[in-house]
Amino acid sequence: MTMTTEMSARDEVALSLAGITKRFGAVQALTDVHLDVRAGEVVALVGDNGAGKSTLVKVISGVYQPDEGDIVYAGRKVTVSGPSAAQHLGVATVFQDLALCDNLDVVANLFLGQERLLGPIVDEVGMEKEAWRLLRSLSAKIPSVRIPVASLSGGQRQTVAIARSLVGAPKVVMLDEPTAALGVAQTAEVLNLIERLRDSGLGVILVSHNMADVQAVADRIVVLRLGRNEAEFNVADVTTAELVAAITGASDNVVATRSARTNVKKESPDE
Ligand SMILES: Nc1ncnc2c1ncn2[C@@H]1O[C@H](COP(=O)(O)OP(=O)(O)OP(=O)(O)O)[C@@H](O)[C@H]1O
Ligand SMILES: [Mg+2]
Repeated sequence: MTMTTEMSARDEVALSLAGITKRFGAVQALTDVHLDVRAGEVVALVGDNGAGKSTLVKVISGVYQPDEGDIVYAGRKVTVSGPSAAQHLGVATVFQDLALCDNLDVVANLFLGQERLLGPIVDEVGMEKEAWRLLRSLSAKIPSVRIPVASLSGGQRQTVAIARSLVGAPKVVMLDEPTAALGVAQTAEVLNLIERLRDSGLGVILVSHNMADVQAVADRIVVLRLGRNEAEFNVADVTTAELVAAITGASDNVVATRSARTNVKKESPDE
């Protein structure tokens, strides 16, 4: 009985978008986009430059308001009026530039703008304990939480940014190109970390250009092209060539022909 409850909690749709449309003047950045993320699942969002990935991330994180469409969070239709509203709901975003303050230490960065208070005083001891708890939960290799983040490696800085996104105990975490600036070992570390987020029951949305990373860590892959849903794959069922064909929309080459025969869901008016 308990197991059934746990399993359903794990497969529960944490965040669901439907019919999302976003225009910038004459530019139609997103058209009728849908996306579901379940608890305990990594969904990779991929697509070529200009496909609409960042716009979708910004719609989910409240930076942009969609012109049309619904956002359902934990079974409830919501309006995400801004980034702090998103955080309040439980949707955290690690933006590509990380937005860390180099001169501040790890603790200060984790709690920037969300400092813990003990009465009128900032609770430094409590925050430091919580910092260690978060970093331990990620098995993060950070030597000290009292050193400026400027002295950390790229992978460690990414880890601090991810740990910061967890401070508000979110249900969904979005990561925009988390490995773009990292070397091989650090990339592996961040991918491990993403697996830990999933294993802790979070829904994870991973935006990435790196097909190897995506195939290593994602459960599902959603392909956007020209602002629309182009295809969706279970990671186990797709080859790199098929993914590339969906991303580029190459419908007249041998790879795309083969994927059409197997499992690429093309838009079809009958279904
Ligand atoms: N603030 C904006 N004003 C006008 N047009 C925009 C704005 N933001 C995005 N666009 C346009 O919307 C489309 C989708 O852009 P978006 O940045 O979402 O793509 P992307 O998939 O993130 O691409 P990339 O891989 O290059 O980051 C593009 O045509 C882009 O020029
Ligand atoms: Mg982008």
